[in-house]
Amino acid sequence: MSDTAILATPKGWPAILLPRPAAAKAGTVAADPADLDAATAAGAFKGLRLAIRDLGAIGTIAVIGAAGLRGRGGAGYPAADKWRAAAGTNAAERIVVANGYGADPATGTDGVLLRRNPFAVIEGLAIAAFAIGAGEAVIAVRAEAVSTIRVLEAALAAATDAGFVGPDAFGPGRSLDVRLETVQGAYLLGEETILLKALEGKRGQPEQRPPHPATKGLRGLPTVVHNVQTLAAIPWIVVNGADAFAKVGAKDCPGTILVQVRGADAAGVAEVPMGTSLRDIVALAAPVAGSPAGGRAVKAILVGGPSGGILPPEALDTPYTFEALRAAGAHIGSGSVIVADERACIVDLARVLTRFCADEACGKTIPCRIGTRRLSEIGDRLAAGTSRAGDLDLLTDLAADIVGSALCDHERLATLPLVSGMRYFRAELDEHIERGSCPAGVCHPIAMAASATH
Ligand SMILES: Cc1cc2nc3c(=O)[nH]c(=O)nc-3n(C[C@H](O)[C@H](O)[C@H](O)COP(=O)(O)O)c2cc1C
Ligand code: SF4
Repeated sequence: MSDTAILATPKGWPAILLPRPAAAKAGTVAADPADLDAATAAGAFKGLRLAIRDLGAIGTIAVIGAAGLRGRGGAGYPAADKWRAAAGTNAAERIVVANGYGADPATGTDGVLLRRNPFAVIEGLAIAAFAIGAGEAVIAVRAEAVSTIRVLEAALAAATDAGFVGPDAFGPGRSLDVRLETVQGAYLLGEETILLKALEGKRGQPEQRPPHPATKGLRGLPTVVHNVQTLAAIPWIVVNGADAFAKVGAKDCPGTILVQVRGADAAGVAEVPMGTSLRDIVALAAPVAGSPAGGRAVKAILVGGPSGGILPPEALDTPYTFEALRAAGAHIGSGSVIVADERACIVDLARVLTRFCADEACGKTIPCRIGTRRLSEIGDRLAAGTSRAGDLDLLTDLAADIVGSALCDHERLATLPLVSGMRYFRAELDEHIERGSCPAGVCHPIAMAASATH
C-alpha cells in the first residue's frame, strides 16, 4: 500500500476535506480531480457564491469565527482572528497565502489534499481573500511536488476560465489574482515568515514577531497565511453553517484533520475528527494483522513529525488536539503518527530526530543554533555508550534554556524527541548510560560491546 493511499475510516466519520475511499471506488468522485464540471456538480464553489452574495465580507468572517476553525498548520491559531487582524489594517492591498509546502518529507497529507481536492483549497483561498479584502493570493508548494503542481495548474486554469477567480471574480472591478509559486528548500521553509521570505526571493530565515504576517507580511502587506487544510474546510463551513462544523470533532477544536499514519501493516493518509484518540488513529494502520505494530507490542507512538514527541502506549487515549498533545509532550506538527514496535530503541529514535532538527535549524538565533547541536551530541553519546556523568541533567537544563529563546518555534519543537523520550522511557536511557547496553540491540557499538562479554 502506498504511503499516500487514503486509509479507510469507520462509518460515520465526517468527510470534510477528502472524498471517502468508498465514494472513489463507487465512482461518485471524478476520476480527474481537476475536472471543474464534475466538481461543481458535487457542490464546489457554492460556498464562494454564498459568501459573495449572501454573507458579505464581515458576515463571512463572523461565520468562520463562530465555527471555531483553528489553523491546521501547527499552532492551532483561530483563523477568524487572523482575518480580522488583516481586514482591520488600512492597507490598500492584502494577500492570502496557501501554505502547501509540507515541510516534513515523510508526511504526505497536504499533497494528498491538493491532488485529490484542489478546488476545495482554491475555493477556501478565494473565500478568505474575499473576506479580508485581498486581491492577490498565492498557493505555495514544493518545487519537486511535480504531480501536485500538475493538478493545481489544471485546476487553477479551470477555475480562472470559469471566473471563480481572476478578473472581476468578486464583482465588477473586484478581481482575485491567484498564482501558483514553487519554492525549494529545507524543512524550515514551511514556517510562515520563512515561506514569505522565499516568495520574495530572499534568504530563508524567520522574522521577529510582532508584527505578524497578518498585519505585515509579503512585501510588507497584510498577509493571511493558512495551511491548505485550513483553507479546504472553509467552503464546507460556509455551505453547512458554523453550527454544523462546531458539532464535528472536539469542542475546543472542531472539524477534521488529515493524519499520516504508519504502522507495521499499513501506511496512508486518513481524515479524522479532531479529538479522536491516538488509539483510534493508530488502529487505522492495522487492517491486516489486527494490531498497528503487526502483531508485536506497541512500544511507542511518534507524534508530530521530525520534531515530534515519543509517547508511550499509556498515551494512546490522548485526544488528537493541539492542547492535549502539547501536554503529553508532543504536537500535531506535520500530522504524522508513527507506531514503533517493541524492536525499536527510544534512544536511537530520539537521536536521529534530534540530529535532523539540529541540522535543519537555520542558525539565525544562537540558543537554537548551538543548543540543538549540543542536544544532538547528547543523543549521540547516549547511543554510542559514551555518555558523561550529568548528561541527562544537562539535557534538561539545555532544553529549558533553549525553549522560548528564539525567533520561531523550531527551537522548542526540536527538544521534544529527547525530552519526551527521557520523560517516558527513562529506564531505557539509564540502561544506555549506566550499563552501556541497548536493550533493543539497535545502538550498534553498545550492542556489540554487550554481546562481546558473553
Ligand atoms: C519549523 C516549522 C515548520 C513549519 N512547517 C509548516 C508546513 O510545512 N506547512 C504549514 O502549513 N505550516 C507549517 N508551519 C506553521 C506555519 O508557520 C504557520 O503557522 C501556518 O502555515 C499557518 O497556517 P494555519 O493558520 O492554517 O495554521 C511550520 C512551523 C514551524 C515552526
Ligand atoms: S529558532 Fe532555530 S530555526 Fe528558528 S530562527 Fe532561530 S535558529 Fe532559526
